[in-house]
Amino acid sequence: MDNSKIKRYTVTAALPYTNGPVHIGHLAGVYLPADTYVRFLRANNRDVKFICGSDENGVPITLKAKREGVSPQEVVDKYHKIIGDSFRDFGVSFDIYHRTSSQMHHQTASDFFETLYNKGVFTEEVTEQYYDEKAQTFLADRYITGTCPKCGFENAYGDQCENCGSTLNATDLINPKSTLSGEPPVRKETKNWFLPLEKYEDQLRTYIESHKEWKPNVYGQCQSWLNAGLQPRAMTRDLDWGVKVPLKDATGKVLYVWFDAPIGYISATRELFEYARLDVWNPKSEEYYINQNGVQKGNWEDYWKDDSTKLVHFIGKDNIVFHCIIFPAMLMAHGGYTLADNVPANEFLNLEGQKISTSKNWAVWLNEYLVEFKDKQDVLRYVLTATAPETKDNDFTWKDFQARNNNELVAVFGNFVNRVVVLTHKYFGGKVPMLMDVTPEDQLVIDELAAAPAKISASIEQYRFREALTEVMNVARIGNKYLAETEPWKVIKTDEDRVRTILNISLQIVASLEILVEPFLPFTADKLMKMLSYGGHQWEDAGKMNLLVRGHQLNEPVLLFEKIEDSEVEAQIDKLNKSKDDNIKANTIATPAKENIDFEQFSAMDIRVATIIAAEKVEKTKKLLKLTLDTGIDERTVVSGIAEYFKPEDIIGKQVSVLVNLAPREIKGVVSQGMILMSENANGELTFVAPIENHNNGSIVR
Ligand code: MF3
Ligand code: ZN
Repeated sequence: MDNSKIKRYTVTAALPYTNGPVHIGHLAGVYLPADTYVRFLRANNRDVKFICGSDENGVPITLKAKREGVSPQEVVDKYHKIIGDSFRDFGVSFDIYHRTSSQMHHQTASDFFETLYNKGVFTEEVTEQYYDEKAQTFLADRYITGTCPKCGFENAYGDQCENCGSTLNATDLINPKSTLSGEPPVRKETKNWFLPLEKYEDQLRTYIESHKEWKPNVYGQCQSWLNAGLQPRAMTRDLDWGVKVPLKDATGKVLYVWFDAPIGYISATRELFEYARLDVWNPKSEEYYINQNGVQKGNWEDYWKDDSTKLVHFIGKDNIVFHCIIFPAMLMAHGGYTLADNVPANEFLNLEGQKISTSKNWAVWLNEYLVEFKDKQDVLRYVLTATAPETKDNDFTWKDFQARNNNELVAVFGNFVNRVVVLTHKYFGGKVPMLMDVTPEDQLVIDELAAAPAKISASIEQYRFREALTEVMNVARIGNKYLAETEPWKVIKTDEDRVRTILNISLQIVASLEILVEPFLPFTADKLMKMLSYGGHQWEDAGKMNLLVRGHQLNEPVLLFEKIEDSEVEAQIDKLNKSKDDNIKANTIATPAKENIDFEQFSAMDIRVATIIAAEKVEKTKKLLKLTLDTGIDERTVVSGIAEYFKPEDIIGKQVSVLVNLAPREIKGVVSQGMILMSENANGELTFVAPIENHNNGSIVR
């Protein structure tokens, strides 16, 4: 969108599900870039509303409630508070943090649905869905377990098999069971309302193709959805938790959570303005952040229905289709709304080389971080922005966290600021000294400083926050280098005026850093402001040489960052590993035993000790290794699906147990004669099952 046409901004951040706290992946992928963008806009005096809230409907919430033996409302209340507190404590500066269980949201979503219904947008379809006769309810796919038709895993969910990763329909499962009653479900007809996405295909294509500037990952995903052809999608579900479908023949049905959730952005904006009319801060309000940025003028519709409003959705990559295809189609069908100008979706952040997983407790939870690293919000903000998964998945490690804190925040940024303020106190009683004669080398530094803000702006406007943060750090580097070269602590003995100039320039750099770093590290900017006893932070001031006037009195220096010790990050790594072990234990107990077999069936299996004497990858496969075994009886080939866990060179010479009388099978062109026994834990990690001490090859296992 052409900058000169923009009158105001609506910036949304994906509404987090309230079935658990938020972790570093959420912060890095969505909330930090959004907050940085918004703080930058505010510093530029732009009119912006920053909208978020809790996504409190949908099956995950009801499942969590069932598991914890509480009501869905209790689940969402609990996590709405935990998540809202984490965001506030990390300085994520929403104008409102709303929730989709609120009255305002139910009303807004329900009205939206009704408008589409009255316009004849929906098609009605009767389909067969699973129904639990004992519990008297239709079953969402997640409520059904059974045997995976693809891999035979017995505890697959109706929507997905966690063993082989296939996406499933509940009706594909073999021997389906309801998780509510444990009974096999029956098929029953039910009517639902569908949004015919295919009717909006042309309009959507025009929309997407007018945004070639979008990030390649986002644009590409949209193209592949459009090219695959869009299908009608049910916008209502048989479920008793959520926004009731506002139609007569729809009892027991709610709006599909992906229909109501994005409308949550709209209802939150409405709430913000509704509330603003009261003109007061209501301390009893359950909503977070309302009015924190002052009384609102204007109207919510300005922020949603006006072409001079720039709408930007910050989301993670798993949300792209909903924000770029389905929600725009809903808005088109409704009419009157502006569409997003950009959807800067990020990829995923991994943790210590593994996918972050809520169910496996492989995560750094924000609420826990705040306790364990008190007052170090900006350290995490810094590290997560510096390693943000903007163009590809990225990895967070505690060692990197420590290194970036110690080598960048402490050694570069903190060190520069501290030296300048300390020296000013030491030589000039904390008063800003006068700028005297400017040398050519001073001028170079002044010019570099003056050029920095425009570079940083350009990066932020293109949603390149890592690059922008690097530029900010470069300003601190320029300052450090300047001090190292001019050595005011030596010059002071011979030429006090020269030191006046050096420190004046250095202090102007510090003052600019306060402005430039604020969108990224607001807590640090705050400390800097206090230290400089400095009030303004308009972006346009950054880079100037007159931010601190001669004679201005500074406050005492405070340390902005402190070193993080090895023991602190080691404790975090231990904690992660321990929670993983605990989780494995918990999950292992939970897997039920298979049906009984008789002794004959058992003794029909001929299992022997063998040694791996050669191993190589099976060509054109990811998972398969071709192993040559010395079984004591013969030398034979066995193909085993362990290549993701073991390198061929690491397992040669290992003893294993092998089922030798399994009928030979051809796998990817190789004949496999037998099967190696492996133990697999709940995380899907493999280890060999072998005698504890070496035994002769061919020894019998029974
Ligand atoms: N709750 C969703 C998630 O965590 C995001 C919802 S975004 C909204 O993936 F647009 F629907 F609000
Ligand atoms: Zn499977």
